[in-house]
Amino acid sequence: MADFFNAVRAALQASSPDNKLSLTRFAMGKLDGLKKADIRNSFGEPTDVYAPGCPEYPKLVLPKHLPKRAMGTLEGRKIMMHAIAHIEFNAINLALDAAQRFNDMPLAFYSDWMRVAAEEAYHFELVRAHLRHLGGEYGDYPAHNGLWEMAESTAHDVLDRMALVPRVLEARGLDVTPGIQKKFINVGDTHAATLLDIIFKDEIGHVEVGSRWFRYVCKERYLKPTETFIALVEKYFPKGIGGVLNLDAREQAGFSEAEIKILLGE
Ligand SMILES: [Fe+2]
Repeated sequence: MADFFNAVRAALQASSPDNKLSLTRFAMGKLDGLKKADIRNSFGEPTDVYAPGCPEYPKLVLPKHLPKRAMGTLEGRKIMMHAIAHIEFNAINLALDAAQRFNDMPLAFYSDWMRVAAEEAYHFELVRAHLRHLGGEYGDYPAHNGLWEMAESTAHDVLDRMALVPRVLEARGLDVTPGIQKKFINVGDTHAATLLDIIFKDEIGHVEVGSRWFRYVCKERYLKPTETFIALVEKYFPKGIGGVLNLDAREQAGFSEAEIKILLGE
């Protein structure tokens, strides 16, 4: 009965992108065997949060050392697609980690995060295919580790993880994607813009999964969701999260009016 969690951990630990993709799908197939009553017994030990499987390349660097994404050149478009591929690769690990780290959640929590992991795997493949079409490969450029660092700092509590990873970092993707799409359209790369359309629609669903489980944990602990969310954002981002919010997408992704107002500083 430990099959499901073992399979998720094997996918999380896989270093090569292709192995990670196939092991993620394999783990997804093991979901059917997971029963509510078994979760506690079959859960086992979560993988160390400092040890997700990542390939040797891309090399991880500080954000200030990342190459510039000047979209007017082929090289700039490759760098942008590479950055998106890296986000999707991390997103597979983040969803797998949610499914293997937190014990005692309802069955639907694990199936939700596995669905997210499988969609992220699909996004990674879509983006990598276009990167290859442009003449690049995942690993060609350096990348940063910001997404995973937040997984590390929230590994101790499902409440913090749900608030900070899907509802802050992944929600940021909803805010910036339309602008990136426009840039691709402006340089005539409508294929990239179409891929971003598919990804954007799925990402709304992923953030919504985070919102739903965040509220579930709040309810279990008798916490008020809006106040709790804002307190967590302030704890992890004392200088604020900044940037323009995509209000429509955030509303669809389960942000309350009160949360949006506070994030906007109103
Ligand atoms: Fe994605």
